[in-house]
Amino acid sequence: MLFSRRTNWNMEENELARAHRRRVAAGLPIADLTASNPTRCGFAYDPGLLVALSDARALDYDPQPRGLLSAREAVCAYYAGHGVALSPEHIFLTTSTSEAYSFLFRLLCDPGNEILAAQPGYPLFDFLAVLDDVKLRAAPLVYDHGWQIDAEGFRRAITPETRAIVLVHPNNPTGHFIKPWEAEELARLCREFDLALIVDEVFLDYSFGGAGKSFAAGLDGVPVFVVSGLSKIAGLPQMKAAWIVAAGPEACTALERLEVIADTFLSMNAPVQYALLAWLEGREAIQKQIRARVRANLDELDRQLAQLPEVSRLEVEGGWYAVLRIPAVAPDEQTVLALLERGVWVHPGYFFGMAESGWLVVSLLAAEAEFSAGVALLAAFLNTHR
Ligand SMILES: Cc1ncc(COP(=O)(O)O)c(C=O)c1O
Repeated sequence: MLFSRRTNWNMEENELARAHRRRVAAGLPIADLTASNPTRCGFAYDPGLLVALSDARALDYDPQPRGLLSAREAVCAYYAGHGVALSPEHIFLTTSTSEAYSFLFRLLCDPGNEILAAQPGYPLFDFLAVLDDVKLRAAPLVYDHGWQIDAEGFRRAITPETRAIVLVHPNNPTGHFIKPWEAEELARLCREFDLALIVDEVFLDYSFGGAGKSFAAGLDGVPVFVVSGLSKIAGLPQMKAAWIVAAGPEACTALERLEVIADTFLSMNAPVQYALLAWLEGREAIQKQIRARVRANLDELDRQLAQLPEVSRLEVEGGWYAVLRIPAVAPDEQTVLALLERGVWVHPGYFFGMAESGWLVVSLLAAEAEFSAGVALLAAFLNTHR
């Protein structure tokens, strides 16, 4: 059988995955500081959550490529809570933000066209781009008392093939919110080079300061597509419901074209769409717990790292992750393997597009006792490997 080049992946298990698998198989303890699945982190979910799936209206099959109106209205209510008035015509439902990205890449790009993605950033983009025959180009974020876009670096990364810029707001893993001055710079670039802006706001509600401002309100003269969904907003990744908000010039044309893409798959199911309103309305119960958890874990991280002046925890404004700058005395892969041997599992920064040495990323989502034990192991290791 001949396979497509785009699926010509190296399927060999990498060293980190192998070491992790072996440790799990050996039954040895692991404090998991990569945890990102909220349903496995000991939060209390409403036991009645699944009742919303038994709405009798779901007995009828009403194929709507944009998603059922009642579900799109529920998404509008979410944005109204963020001070953005939207009409359901501008909302488009998908089964995940990954599917939303794929629809948008197909909407905006021909094979070989390029998308800029801020780096460090979410590693799944590489796969999403390859699957849609799109080239991903990294556009740099820089750190200087906080993360920010390197506007000149973004400009240099633009080529005649570029079609869109993707931002995560707040970013995974840097926890950086796009500031008004950055939005202005990006808008200028988008207008000058005729680019669309795709903004992933799955972590929007998880801010360490005030509420993050949504891009769903649009950005002066720029086609904007906001993607978000239940996986983080309601802590329900298993429910498979997400959305696209289209704003700005030509939004209606974009939505008509998206409709044809979605009509080809019709992947949303009816019970989840009828349940969307209840799950979005109930989001505060889980968001409150997650916010308290990530705050407590961030405080604990700082408390334990205070004894290690060589290690700095970078500024974080939102999201579920913290980035650590460690002495670059060994490749991070080796450090992560050595940490795993001691019983703590963290991500190397290169996983998110950082340099090969000197960066670790920890998730702040794990249960407090596990997190604290994991950080103690991490701190003890770093203390002896300066
Ligand atoms: C930035 C970002 N976007 C999207 C997702 C996943 O969303 P979904 O489950 O809707 O595909 C994640 C998951 O970690 C993420 O970090």
